[in-house]
Amino acid sequence: MALVNEHFLELPGSYLFSDIAKKVNTFKVTHPKQDIIRLGIGDVTQPLPKASIEAMHKAVEEMTRKETFRGYGPEQGYDFLIEAIIKNDYAPRGIYFSTSEVFVSDGAKSDTGNIGDILGQDNSVGMTDPVYPVYIDSNVMGGRAGTLDAGTGRWSNITYLPCTSENDFTPAIPQKRVDIVYLCYPNNPTGTTLSKAELKKWVDYALENDTLILYDAAYEAYIQEKEVPHSIYEIKGAKKCAIEFRSFSKTAGFTGVRCGYTVVPKELTATTLKGERVQLNKLWNRRQCTKFNGTSYITQRAAEAIYSAEGKEQVKETISYYMTNAKIMKEGLEATGLKVYGGVNAPYLWVKTPNGTGSWRFFEQMLYEANVVGTPGVGFGPSGEGYIRLTAFGDRDDCVEAMRRIKNWL
Ligand code: MLT
Repeated sequence: MALVNEHFLELPGSYLFSDIAKKVNTFKVTHPKQDIIRLGIGDVTQPLPKASIEAMHKAVEEMTRKETFRGYGPEQGYDFLIEAIIKNDYAPRGIYFSTSEVFVSDGAKSDTGNIGDILGQDNSVGMTDPVYPVYIDSNVMGGRAGTLDAGTGRWSNITYLPCTSENDFTPAIPQKRVDIVYLCYPNNPTGTTLSKAELKKWVDYALENDTLILYDAAYEAYIQEKEVPHSIYEIKGAKKCAIEFRSFSKTAGFTGVRCGYTVVPKELTATTLKGERVQLNKLWNRRQCTKFNGTSYITQRAAEAIYSAEGKEQVKETISYYMTNAKIMKEGLEATGLKVYGGVNAPYLWVKTPNGTGSWRFFEQMLYEANVVGTPGVGFGPSGEGYIRLTAFGDRDDCVEAMRRIKNWL
């Protein structure tokens, strides 16, 4: 008799974005003539950078010839991509890594979900609230979350760090120590950022308390303001306490191509029950070599190409396109009297629902009455109640039309 991992049974029926997709599909079936604008899931709409497309074509050609064909690649990623990452994403900020500290993968969702494999089940976990649901769900699966209080929407073993307009979306350092804390900046879902001084508080806390920070920087390419930190390693001491996740999905339109990377510095250690310090880099390497056979060569060549001069220019253009969407949307929503956060250094707008309307209710109303899809804030955690998230990843015309519809509707 095979026993199931019963922690899976503790999870809500479906993943947030699958749940939303189901609701939208139901609407489509019952209203086949309505044209819906989807600003719900943070999926990109603009084509890949030309440099990446050319690199992929070239890589496919290489695959057609015996002399240049590639089979299994290194599980950690090809050096040509890792070197480009170190040279372009870190060195200009005065941060240096060896190639064995960077692990290329099929995206930050996989890595932030899988990182729990190398961490003990008894760790206490802190999370900002609202939060990217992968962090919560994967900790539930790993048996670290405890039980769900259906009334509050909170898991008993998770320390929630509320981020709301009342605290300017800045999580307070927890009163009690936690072993692991998840931070995502620029933030999904609120679109807000942490200043260097705030981030330093977290690094100092982690160093003092022997806490591991899991830092998701998937949206760093959207930072527009100079003083906002792009990497946690800009803070002194972070190599001793933090893992950083990055993604090409939002940076270069790779949501369908799949590529990201995770930095696990050699200086970073955690402990065994006996008190022995162990390098997390070794464990992650072991995990990846066992369970992952590397990102495809073609994909890695596409990712490498974003660091070429043309690639950089093309990425900049696309990001500027989305951030112009964000500006149009922010202004459009504010003109209707809504309170809007984010959208300045991130492609997400975090909108306060009017008159205390619940997130799911507002989501349904906006879908049925304005035919615009958002993501209910409470889907990201209890502190998201009373908010809705809109993404700026849509097509320009759709964003403009969505604002027109919302304006006419409210
Ligand atoms: C989101 O909408 O939050 C993102 O698309 C999720 C993701 O990147 O997996």
